[in-house]
Amino acid sequence: MFDIDNVRLDFPILDREIYGQRLVYLDNAATTQKPSRVIAKIEEVYKWYNSNIHRSVSKLAAICTDEYENARKIVSGFINAKHAHEIVFTSGTTAAINLLAFAFGEKFVNSGDEIVVCESEHHSNIVPWQLMCERKDAVLKVLPFDDKGDLKMELLDELLTGRTRLICVAQATNVLGTVNPLDEIVRKAHEKGVYVLIDGAQGIQHVKTDVTAYDFDFYVFSGHKIYAPTGTGILYGKENLLEQLPPWQGGGDMVKNVSFAKTTYSDLPLKFEAGTSNYVGAMALGEALSYLMDKGIENIHSYEKDLTDYALEKISSIPGISIYGTSANKVGIASFLVEGIHYADMGEILDKMGIAVRTGRMCADPTVHHFGLTGMVRASWTFYNTKSEIDKLCEGIEKTKKILGLS
Ligand code: ALA
Repeated sequence: MFDIDNVRLDFPILDREIYGQRLVYLDNAATTQKPSRVIAKIEEVYKWYNSNIHRSVSKLAAICTDEYENARKIVSGFINAKHAHEIVFTSGTTAAINLLAFAFGEKFVNSGDEIVVCESEHHSNIVPWQLMCERKDAVLKVLPFDDKGDLKMELLDELLTGRTRLICVAQATNVLGTVNPLDEIVRKAHEKGVYVLIDGAQGIQHVKTDVTAYDFDFYVFSGHKIYAPTGTGILYGKENLLEQLPPWQGGGDMVKNVSFAKTTYSDLPLKFEAGTSNYVGAMALGEALSYLMDKGIENIHSYEKDLTDYALEKISSIPGISIYGTSANKVGIASFLVEGIHYADMGEILDKMGIAVRTGRMCADPTVHHFGLTGMVRASWTFYNTKSEIDKLCEGIEKTKKILGLS
C-alpha cells in the first residue's frame, strides 16, 4: 500500500524550513525533488567506481559501463520500448528535441514540407522546429486549443496534408496540465503516413507510458522532472527510424572508424551519444525509475488522481480566482490568477510563507498569450505532496488577498 508518510521521508528536502516554516513544494512541473536513493547513487558512483564508459579496460570502467547500459535497460523497460538501443541518453528533453529536429530535418524534410506543433506546447517543442523549418524551407503549422485547454481535434484532419512529415505533441502540457488524446493523434497521423513525436516531459511522471502500445515514433523526457538529476533525459525512437537518421553531434564514442577520407559511425544508440556523456546522471535516472517501480506506478497514479481532484476543486473555489486549463483530463497542475493581484506579487508573498510555486510565462508564450495574459501563477504537485499542503496553498492565497487589501 502507498504510505505517504514513508514516501515523504524518502525526500530529505521536504523536511526543511523556508523563512521559518515547513517547505510546501508545489513547483514540481519545473523540477522534482530527489529521493535519498538517487542522491546516494550519485555518491556511490563517485566514491567507488567512477571511470569513463565504453573506453578503458579497467575494472572500474567495466563496472561503470555495465551500470550505464543497465540504466538504459531500466529506461527501456519503464517505457516499454522493444529494444534498449532505441534509448538515446541526452541532457534532457530540450537536447533530445533539438537532436531530433536536426536529424529528422536532414533525413525527411524538404522545401515545402510541413511540421505540425500544438499551440499549447512548451517552447522546447516549438523553437527547434522553427529553426529546422527555416533551415529546410519547410512550413510550421499549429493545432490550436480551446479555452478549456483541449486540443481542437476537429481541425487535425485538415492540418495533416500530403506534405506533413511530423506532428509534435506534449503528453501533458506544462501550463494547462491537459493530458492530450495521444491515441487518436497517433492513429490519425499514421493513417496519413505522418510520424509522431511525443514530448513526455510533463507526462511520464503522472501517466502510464508505453511507447510500443501507443505506437509512438519518437518520445522524449527529462530526468529532472521524474526525480532524477538535472542534465539527464532520453530520446526514444523506433529502431528503423533512428537507423535512418544522420548523427547530430560528432566526437568520441559515436564513431567506428575515423579517417580523413571516410568516417563510419557507431551502431545505435552510440551514434547519437558523442563525447563523454552524463553517465553518472544516467545511472541515477535508472535508480529513480527503479524507486518508482518499487513504490508501484499504479499506487502513485491513483494517489495523484485523488490529490488532483481534491486540489482542483479546492483551489477553484477561492473567490476571485481564475484557473487556466480546465480539461477533464489533467495532471496535477493549476495555473491561475487572482483578480487584482499580479502573478509576481502572488509568487513572492507565497514564497515568504514557505510555499514554492512558479510564476510568469512558463516557457510557453503562445499558451499564456492565448488567454491575453503576460503571466500566471502555477502550482504543480506530485505523489509526495499532501492535501494539507494544498490547504496551506489555499490559505496562502487568501492571506495574500488580505495583505494586498483585496478581502
Ligand atoms: N519546463 C519547466 C516548466 O514548465 C521548466 O516549468
